[in-house]
Amino acid sequence: MLKIRNLTVTFGGVVALNLHKFDLADKELRVIIGPNGAGKSTMMDVLCGKTQPNQGTAIFNGEELIGKSEIEINHMGVGRKFQKPTVFDGLTVFDNMLLGLKCNKNVFSSIFFSLSGEQRAKIYEVAELVNLDNELKTMAGSLSHGQKQWLEIAIVLLQDPELLLIDEPAAGMSDSETEKTGELLIELGKRRGVIVIEHDMHFVEQIAKDKVTVLVRGSILTEGSFQQVKNDKSVIDCYLGAPDSAQMRNMKQA
Ligand SMILES: Nc1ncnc2c1ncn2[C@@H]1O[C@H](COP(=O)(O)OP(=O)(O)OP(=O)(O)O)[C@@H](O)[C@H]1O
Ligand SMILES: [Mg+2]
Repeated sequence: MLKIRNLTVTFGGVVALNLHKFDLADKELRVIIGPNGAGKSTMMDVLCGKTQPNQGTAIFNGEELIGKSEIEINHMGVGRKFQKPTVFDGLTVFDNMLLGLKCNKNVFSSIFFSLSGEQRAKIYEVAELVNLDNELKTMAGSLSHGQKQWLEIAIVLLQDPELLLIDEPAAGMSDSETEKTGELLIELGKRRGVIVIEHDMHFVEQIAKDKVTVLVRGSILTEGSFQQVKNDKSVIDCYLGAPDSAQMRNMKQA
Protein backbone atom coordinates (compact mmCIF):
# COMPACT_ATOMS: atom_id res chain seq x y z
CA MET A 1 0.00 0.00 0.00
CA LEU A 2 3.00 2.30 0.45
CA LYS A 3 6.15 2.57 -1.64
CA ILE A 4 8.84 5.07 -0.67
CA ARG A 5 11.81 5.65 -2.98
CA ASN A 6 14.88 7.89 -2.61
CA LEU A 7 13.33 10.19 -0.07
CA THR A 8 15.66 12.85 1.27
CA VAL A 9 15.00 15.51 3.91
CA THR A 10 17.64 17.99 5.01
CA PHE A 11 17.40 20.64 7.70
CA GLY A 12 19.93 23.44 7.22
CA GLY A 13 22.21 21.16 5.25
CA VAL A 14 21.98 18.31 7.75
CA VAL A 15 20.51 15.12 6.32
CA ALA A 16 17.65 14.01 8.58
CA LEU A 17 16.29 11.35 6.24
CA ASN A 18 17.74 9.49 3.29
CA LEU A 19 15.42 6.56 2.61
CA HIS A 20 16.38 4.54 -0.42
CA LYS A 21 13.50 2.05 -0.33
CA PHE A 22 10.66 1.35 2.07
CA ASP A 23 7.60 -0.75 1.22
CA LEU A 24 4.56 -1.50 3.32
CA ALA A 25 2.19 -4.31 2.36
CA ASP A 26 -1.58 -4.11 2.61
CA LYS A 27 -2.74 -4.31 6.25
CA GLU A 28 0.83 -4.69 7.48
CA LEU A 29 1.82 -3.55 10.96
CA ARG A 30 5.37 -2.21 10.76
CA VAL A 31 7.40 -1.13 13.75
CA ILE A 32 10.21 1.38 13.24
CA ILE A 33 12.97 1.53 15.83
CA GLY A 34 16.22 3.44 15.97
CA PRO A 35 18.26 5.88 18.07
CA ASN A 36 17.17 9.44 18.89
CA GLY A 37 17.51 11.71 15.89
CA ALA A 38 17.48 8.78 13.42
CA GLY A 39 14.75 10.44 11.34
CA LYS A 40 11.79 8.30 12.45
CA SER A 41 9.43 11.18 13.19
CA THR A 42 10.70 13.04 10.12
CA MET A 43 9.63 10.07 8.00
CA MET A 44 6.11 10.32 9.43
CA ASP A 45 6.16 14.10 8.97
CA VAL A 46 6.81 13.56 5.26
CA LEU A 47 4.11 10.88 4.95
CA CYS A 48 1.46 13.12 6.50
CA GLY A 49 2.47 16.21 4.53
CA LYS A 50 3.85 18.19 7.47
CA THR A 51 7.36 18.25 5.98
CA GLN A 52 8.16 18.41 2.27
CA PRO A 53 11.24 16.39 1.30
CA ASN A 54 14.08 17.69 -0.89
CA GLN A 55 13.45 14.80 -3.24
CA GLY A 56 11.82 11.40 -3.54
CA THR A 57 8.47 9.70 -3.94
CA ALA A 58 5.97 8.13 -1.57
CA ILE A 59 3.20 6.31 -3.42
CA PHE A 60 0.18 5.42 -1.30
CA ASN A 61 -2.41 3.17 -2.99
CA GLY A 62 -1.06 4.29 -6.35
CA GLU A 63 -1.15 8.00 -5.57
CA GLU A 64 1.77 10.32 -4.86
CA LEU A 65 1.78 11.84 -1.36
CA ILE A 66 4.71 14.19 -1.91
CA GLY A 67 3.63 17.73 -2.72
CA LYS A 68 0.17 17.28 -1.18
CA SER A 69 -1.04 19.21 1.87
CA GLU A 70 -1.74 17.61 5.25
CA ILE A 71 -5.49 17.90 4.64
CA GLU A 72 -5.27 16.36 1.17
CA ILE A 73 -3.24 13.46 2.54
CA ASN A 74 -5.68 13.03 5.38
CA HIS A 75 -8.53 12.80 2.90
CA MET A 76 -6.57 10.21 0.94
CA GLY A 77 -6.73 7.99 4.02
CA VAL A 78 -3.53 8.57 5.97
CA GLY A 79 -4.08 9.32 9.67
CA ARG A 80 -1.32 10.51 11.97
CA LYS A 81 -1.11 10.43 15.72
CA PHE A 82 1.64 12.68 16.98
CA GLN A 83 4.10 12.08 19.81
CA LYS A 84 2.37 14.44 22.29
CA PRO A 85 -1.36 14.26 23.03
CA THR A 86 -3.31 17.35 21.96
CA VAL A 87 -6.85 16.66 23.12
CA PHE A 88 -9.09 19.40 24.53
CA ASP A 89 -8.85 19.02 28.32
CA GLY A 90 -11.99 21.07 29.00
CA LEU A 91 -14.22 18.87 26.86
CA THR A 92 -15.56 15.41 27.61
CA VAL A 93 -14.21 12.35 25.85
CA PHE A 94 -17.42 12.22 23.83
CA ASP A 95 -17.16 15.86 22.74
CA ASN A 96 -13.51 15.44 21.81
CA MET A 97 -14.54 12.51 19.64
CA LEU A 98 -17.45 14.47 18.20
CA LEU A 99 -15.03 17.20 17.18
CA GLY A 100 -12.75 14.61 15.69
CA LEU A 101 -15.59 13.06 13.74
CA LYS A 102 -16.83 16.22 12.15
CA CYS A 103 -13.67 18.05 12.45
CA ASN A 104 -11.12 18.74 10.02
CA LYS A 105 -10.26 21.41 12.51
CA ASN A 106 -13.36 23.51 12.00
CA VAL A 107 -14.55 23.82 15.58
CA PHE A 108 -17.68 25.87 14.81
CA SER A 109 -19.12 23.57 12.21
CA SER A 110 -18.40 20.73 14.64
CA ILE A 111 -20.25 22.31 17.53
CA PHE A 112 -23.31 23.23 15.51
CA PHE A 113 -23.70 20.14 13.46
CA SER A 114 -26.38 17.65 14.40
CA LEU A 115 -25.31 14.16 15.14
CA SER A 116 -26.90 11.31 13.23
CA GLY A 117 -27.59 7.97 14.86
CA GLU A 118 -24.97 6.43 12.67
CA GLN A 119 -22.33 8.92 13.77
CA ARG A 120 -23.23 8.41 17.43
CA ALA A 121 -22.91 4.64 16.93
CA LYS A 122 -19.51 5.18 15.32
CA ILE A 123 -18.31 7.15 18.35
CA TYR A 124 -19.46 4.36 20.70
CA GLU A 125 -17.86 1.71 18.52
CA VAL A 126 -14.48 3.47 18.41
CA ALA A 127 -14.66 4.36 22.13
CA GLU A 128 -15.14 0.68 22.95
CA LEU A 129 -12.23 -0.30 20.73
CA VAL A 130 -9.85 2.04 22.60
CA ASN A 131 -11.16 1.13 26.09
CA LEU A 132 -12.85 4.48 26.66
CA ASP A 133 -16.50 3.41 26.46
CA ASN A 134 -16.90 3.94 30.21
CA GLU A 135 -15.27 7.37 30.09
CA LEU A 136 -17.38 9.13 27.47
CA LYS A 137 -18.67 11.69 30.00
CA THR A 138 -15.26 12.19 31.65
CA MET A 139 -13.41 15.46 31.03
CA ALA A 140 -10.41 14.70 28.86
CA GLY A 141 -8.29 16.71 31.32
CA SER A 142 -8.88 14.13 34.03
CA LEU A 143 -7.90 11.11 31.95
CA SER A 144 -4.63 9.31 32.66
CA HIS A 145 -1.78 9.87 30.22
CA GLY A 146 -2.47 6.52 28.61
CA GLN A 147 -6.18 7.21 28.24
CA LYS A 148 -5.39 10.55 26.56
CA GLN A 149 -3.24 8.71 24.06
CA TRP A 150 -6.12 6.30 23.38
CA LEU A 151 -8.47 9.24 22.91
CA GLU A 152 -6.07 10.66 20.33
CA ILE A 153 -5.94 7.32 18.56
CA ALA A 154 -9.76 7.24 18.67
CA ILE A 155 -9.95 10.67 17.05
CA VAL A 156 -7.67 9.55 14.23
CA LEU A 157 -9.68 6.32 13.85
CA LEU A 158 -12.93 8.24 13.42
CA GLN A 159 -11.58 9.39 10.07
CA ASP A 160 -11.32 5.72 9.01
CA PRO A 161 -7.71 5.90 7.83
CA GLU A 162 -6.39 3.13 5.62
CA LEU A 163 -2.91 3.85 6.90
CA LEU A 164 -2.34 4.83 10.52
CA LEU A 165 0.94 6.47 11.60
CA ILE A 166 1.64 6.37 15.34
CA ASP A 167 4.66 7.95 16.97
CA GLU A 168 5.76 6.43 20.31
CA PRO A 169 2.31 5.45 21.62
CA ALA A 170 3.64 3.74 24.74
CA ALA A 171 5.89 6.58 25.94
CA GLY A 172 5.04 7.47 29.53
CA MET A 173 2.41 4.74 29.88
CA SER A 174 2.08 2.35 32.81
CA ASP A 175 2.84 -1.31 32.11
CA SER A 176 -0.82 -2.27 31.94
CA GLU A 177 -1.63 0.67 29.64
CA THR A 178 1.30 -0.29 27.42
CA GLU A 179 0.02 -3.84 27.13
CA LYS A 180 -3.50 -2.70 26.31
CA THR A 181 -2.09 -0.32 23.71
CA GLY A 182 -0.22 -3.23 22.14
CA GLU A 183 -3.43 -5.27 21.95
CA LEU A 184 -5.19 -2.28 20.42
CA LEU A 185 -2.54 -1.80 17.73
CA ILE A 186 -2.61 -5.50 16.82
CA GLU A 187 -6.39 -5.24 16.48
CA LEU A 188 -6.12 -2.08 14.37
CA GLY A 189 -3.53 -3.73 12.14
CA LYS A 190 -6.04 -6.39 11.10
CA ARG A 191 -8.04 -3.87 9.10
CA ARG A 192 -5.53 -1.24 7.94
CA GLY A 193 -1.86 -0.51 7.47
CA VAL A 194 -0.14 0.67 10.65
CA ILE A 195 3.33 2.16 11.09
CA VAL A 196 4.42 2.49 14.71
CA ILE A 197 7.57 4.19 15.96
CA GLU A 198 8.66 2.84 19.32
CA HIS A 199 11.63 2.64 21.69
CA ASP A 200 10.25 0.23 24.30
CA MET A 201 11.53 -3.17 23.19
CA HIS A 202 9.05 -5.14 25.28
CA PHE A 203 6.29 -3.32 23.50
CA VAL A 204 7.98 -3.85 20.13
CA GLU A 205 8.15 -7.57 20.80
CA GLN A 206 4.46 -7.62 21.72
CA ILE A 207 3.28 -5.92 18.53
CA ALA A 208 5.91 -6.82 15.92
CA LYS A 209 4.13 -9.73 14.29
CA ASP A 210 5.29 -8.52 10.88
CA LYS A 211 8.55 -6.72 10.10
CA VAL A 212 10.67 -4.34 12.16
CA THR A 213 12.64 -1.61 10.37
CA VAL A 214 15.75 -0.17 12.00
CA LEU A 215 16.46 3.42 11.06
CA VAL A 216 19.89 4.88 11.80
CA ARG A 217 21.09 8.34 10.71
CA GLY A 218 18.21 8.70 8.27
CA SER A 219 18.67 5.37 6.48
CA ILE A 220 17.46 1.82 6.93
CA LEU A 221 20.13 -0.26 8.64
CA THR A 222 18.15 -3.48 8.41
CA GLU A 223 14.64 -4.95 8.30
CA GLY A 224 13.35 -8.28 9.52
CA SER A 225 11.46 -10.13 12.21
CA PHE A 226 11.84 -8.99 15.82
CA GLN A 227 14.13 -11.95 16.54
CA GLN A 228 16.33 -11.24 13.50
CA VAL A 229 16.66 -7.57 14.35
CA LYS A 230 17.21 -8.23 18.04
CA ASN A 231 20.16 -10.53 17.29
CA ASP A 232 21.68 -8.44 14.49
CA LYS A 233 25.14 -7.29 15.49
CA SER A 234 24.94 -4.03 13.56
CA VAL A 235 21.67 -3.19 15.35
CA ILE A 236 23.23 -3.97 18.71
CA ASP A 237 26.23 -1.78 17.83
CA CYS A 238 24.26 1.17 16.41
CA TYR A 239 21.11 1.23 18.50
CA LEU A 240 21.22 -0.98 21.51
CA GLY A 241 24.63 0.46 22.27
CA ALA A 242 26.41 -0.02 25.56
CA PRO A 243 25.43 -3.13 27.51
CA ASP A 244 23.92 -0.93 30.22
CA SER A 245 21.71 1.09 27.87
CA ALA A 246 17.99 1.10 28.58
CA GLN A 247 17.28 -0.55 25.23
CA MET A 248 19.77 -3.32 25.96
CA ARG A 249 18.19 -4.03 29.33
CA ASN A 250 14.78 -4.19 27.67
CA MET A 251 16.18 -6.45 24.95
CA LYS A 252 17.70 -8.85 27.43
CA GLN A 253 14.45 -9.11 29.31
CA ALA A 254 12.56 -9.56 26.03
N1 LIG B 1 11.89 20.90 12.12
C1 LIG B 1 13.20 20.59 12.21
N2 LIG B 1 14.16 21.52 12.03
C2 LIG B 1 15.46 21.21 12.11
N3 LIG B 1 15.92 19.98 12.38
C3 LIG B 1 15.02 19.02 12.59
C4 LIG B 1 13.61 19.26 12.53
N4 LIG B 1 12.95 18.09 12.77
C5 LIG B 1 13.91 17.18 12.99
N5 LIG B 1 15.15 17.72 12.88
C6 LIG B 1 16.41 16.99 12.99
O1 LIG B 1 16.34 15.89 12.12
C7 LIG B 1 16.93 14.73 12.71
C8 LIG B 1 15.91 13.61 12.80
O2 LIG B 1 14.96 13.95 13.80
P1 LIG B 1 13.69 13.08 14.13
O3 LIG B 1 12.85 13.88 15.07
O4 LIG B 1 13.07 12.63 12.87
O5 LIG B 1 14.34 11.84 14.87
P2 LIG B 1 13.63 10.62 15.63
O6 LIG B 1 14.20 9.38 15.05
O7 LIG B 1 12.16 10.78 15.59
O8 LIG B 1 14.18 10.80 17.11
P3 LIG B 1 13.47 10.50 18.55
O9 LIG B 1 13.61 9.01 18.76
O10 LIG B 1 14.29 11.29 19.50
O11 LIG B 1 12.05 10.96 18.48
C9 LIG B 1 17.49 15.19 14.06
O12 LIG B 1 18.83 15.52 13.88
C10 LIG B 1 16.65 16.41 14.38
O13 LIG B 1 17.38 17.30 15.18
MG1 LIG C 1 10.69 11.08 17.06
